[in-house]
Amino acid sequence: AIDIQDLRAKTGYITLDPGYGNTGSCESAITFIDGEKGILRYRGIPIEQFEQAPNFVEVAWLLIFGHLPCPDEYKTFSDDLTATANLDESMKHHFEGFPRSAPPMAILSAMINALSCFHPEFFELEDKDDFREAAAGLISKVRTIAAYAYRQSIGLPYIYPNPALRYVPNFLHMMFSQPYAEHVCDPLVRDALNLILLLHADHEQNCSTSTVRMVGSSQANLFASCAAGVCALWGPLHGGANVAVLEMLEQIHQGQISPEDYVRLAKDRDSKVRLMGFGHRVYRNFDPRAKMLARVADNLLPTLGVHDPLLDIARKLEEIALEDPYFIDRQLYPNVDFYSGIILRAIGIPTNMFTVMFAIGRLPGWIAHWWEQSETQGTKIARPRQIYMGPNETDHVPRGERC
Ligand code: ACO
Repeated sequence: AIDIQDLRAKTGYITLDPGYGNTGSCESAITFIDGEKGILRYRGIPIEQFEQAPNFVEVAWLLIFGHLPCPDEYKTFSDDLTATANLDESMKHHFEGFPRSAPPMAILSAMINALSCFHPEFFELEDKDDFREAAAGLISKVRTIAAYAYRQSIGLPYIYPNPALRYVPNFLHMMFSQPYAEHVCDPLVRDALNLILLLHADHEQNCSTSTVRMVGSSQANLFASCAAGVCALWGPLHGGANVAVLEMLEQIHQGQISPEDYVRLAKDRDSKVRLMGFGHRVYRNFDPRAKMLARVADNLLPTLGVHDPLLDIARKLEEIALEDPYFIDRQLYPNVDFYSGIILRAIGIPTNMFTVMFAIGRLPGWIAHWWEQSETQGTKIARPRQIYMGPNETDHVPRGERC
């Protein structure tokens, strides 16, 4: 039994909040969420207002610098992105050293860390211009790394970035120019991908962003902090859920289980199965991003001439879950991952790249938080406490006297 007086004597009074559901770790001016009402705003702007003319680069600037870019700022930032798109030639050897089967998230995290070795100029950020260049360099190079990781995984040669192309078309170019060149300039695909990326761009203190802030609080550089964010994002309860959703839909499509039985299984605690792409720590209502992505899926797939049975299965699962008291009582609704994979699949992005796409999208948010923290938090390192539950003081036993 725990002697609470003894515990307090050892640790003092500590708030215990597993999963930090009620703990604020910082003040932030970047993103506002009202989970009860299903509201998400970037720097005050409702997320829905980005749907008509989606531009990921503008949103990146908005999140990082606090306002929509004026034309000069947009041009400078776009020029920075173009100028920094290439990787150092010797970085290619690192790609070639990975086995073909290497998970792209592992490559992404490793290569972001490796960037630190090639760009020491991004370590000492003297002023805001230095930071802007480092931020643009990271956003641009992560896109190139992501495309190279994919090319490496299928044994195709790298494609150099094309300075004439904008952010999203350039990514599609580096991914698919051979043999999928027609995707590169399709405005519908470009807009869908811009929207997916910008809808992932920030979501306040989620697991990966908190990780970036935690690592950054030790004054680790921007690249190291964001590489840690990639690792946090990888898990299936966070960014990895978009892959898990597709696997769930495939399983149903292949007839291994019916949608009704899957939902039944997800309600059974002992099964350890969850309805992937459902539920959210903050939203107790529809995730507004899921609503927007459902609309994109409905428009994009027929226009591209894609009939994906997985979309029908997703719709069916949603219909069943939304009428089921288990999900209603627990306020579990589709989250951003529920439809994003179906759209990425229609564009031709392979499933093992889904979480990488999330990382490309989330990067401006990580950068914005890293900068906000370094500007406002001073030298306060993040260092939570714990409640110690181990044995009381005990003696070391020499190896020969142990059982
Ligand atoms: N399917 C079935 N039951 C669920 C689900 C789900 N997807 N999500 C939550 N529940 C149930 C839990 O079993 C629990 O039930 P109980 O009260 O009977 O014990 C209750 O709802 C609360 O669940 P928690 O895990 O405590 O909720 P939490 O806020 O910690 O978790 C999370 C949120 C991780 C997103 C969870 O809903 C989940 O695992 N969803 C599936 C994975 C997923 O889609 N992740 C992506 C999240 S969004 C993002 O990262 C971009």
